Amino acid sequence: MSSHLVEDDKKYVWHPFTQHQTSGDPLPIVKAKDTLLYDAEGKAYIDANSCWWVNIHGHGNEHIRKAIYDQYAEIDHVIFANVTHQKGVEVAKRVIHYLGEPFQKVFFSDNGSTAVEVALKMAMQFWYNKRESKPKIIAIDGAYHGDTFGAMAVGDRGGFNTPFEPYLFHVDFLDFPSAEKEEQVLDQLERLLEKGDVAAFIFEPLVLGSGGMKMYSADFLDKALSLCKKYEVLTIADEIMTGWGRTGKLFAIEYISERPDLVCLSKGVTGGVLPLGLTVATQEIFDMFLGDSMASAMLHGHSFTGNSLICAAVCANFDLIDQPAFFNNINRIVNAHRSFSERLKIYPKVKNVRQSGTIFAFDVVQETEGYFSSLRDKIISFYRENGILLRPLGNTIFFNAPFCITDGELQQLYDVTERFLEEV
Ligand SMILES: Cc1ncc(COP(=O)(O)O)c(C=O)c1O
Repeated sequence: MSSHLVEDDKKYVWHPFTQHQTSGDPLPIVKAKDTLLYDAEGKAYIDANSCWWVNIHGHGNEHIRKAIYDQYAEIDHVIFANVTHQKGVEVAKRVIHYLGEPFQKVFFSDNGSTAVEVALKMAMQFWYNKRESKPKIIAIDGAYHGDTFGAMAVGDRGGFNTPFEPYLFHVDFLDFPSAEKEEQVLDQLERLLEKGDVAAFIFEPLVLGSGGMKMYSADFLDKALSLCKKYEVLTIADEIMTGWGRTGKLFAIEYISERPDLVCLSKGVTGGVLPLGLTVATQEIFDMFLGDSMASAMLHGHSFTGNSLICAAVCANFDLIDQPAFFNNINRIVNAHRSFSERLKIYPKVKNVRQSGTIFAFDVVQETEGYFSSLRDKIISFYRENGILLRPLGNTIFFNAPFCITDGELQQLYDVTERFLEEV
């Protein structure tokens, strides 16, 4: 069965983020339960990166399964343009409850990239509807906000996006605010804001995900947001990776006191089982789209916007988030990672050990570092042989596991990591 699967896959499927000439055969997965993925031979793999950071409760969760199944009997899918349904409203209400003031309105789309597209379009049209010319966007150098065109434009311009560079709109990039550069970057930000032509500043709060799990301080972010407020520039928090407990709190923006104007959510919002993007806005932003004509409305939507099966999964996910076990598990992982970072001190090839809540990362010293480091393939195959599915970012190894990962599985992850470091 597995050889058929792999052969047919190789014949018909074009995989994302995969160089088919060198990547070797795809890993055929036939079952997924809790933290484990099983191949056709019955070998189990710990899902150390939560299948692209989406799965927060583990696979095959019964509560989520039942919610999707039951919803299918009620409504499978209805258009969401001025049509509504109970699960959609429940999602919006609960998201607003989690985020708190000043958030008021939730816009649905399909994935992380579209949540970002929507936020950018909202920010741009906010100023357009206000009849103020603010054509500029600011982002952080090395950021990743997705693969659609607006999202690519505000992301890192090397590597992933080079072929598209001529087609991307202009963005001013701040240097990465590493500890020693914070004041300098705040100054750089203020110089840009002073010009009065900036519509929005978009950022991944505290952790640049695909950019290499690079972490920066909450203090910097607070100061950057208050500068944006001073110059009346909208701020967009891309919580797509950091949201739903990853950084130790439900959202990374809970570590700061300033509030952004827009928040992008995805990945863990459905427990990681179905695709959804949410863009959450303040009342002030929503109100700027009101008017007598359709022209001032948010003329954006996808066929599957507000899909009720997905919304049912979200509500079930929220039920699980509301249980004490959710943060108990997060705290358990935070502490385990903290102890493991001590163990890494003896390895000369390890540098930049860092942690933000349950996200743990370090770099392996290499001649060629960064996303295109050749160490990447070696890391993948070593971990895979040892029963762990993990996708490093070049020479950066990181863990971002489902919160139900057991102590024993964490131990396996750490032991395999140490074995890799002894061999590398
Ligand atoms: C911070 C951030 N923003 C946006 C995205 C894009 O999300 P998606 O892959 O669902 O389009 C990602 C995906 O990794 C992300 O980490």
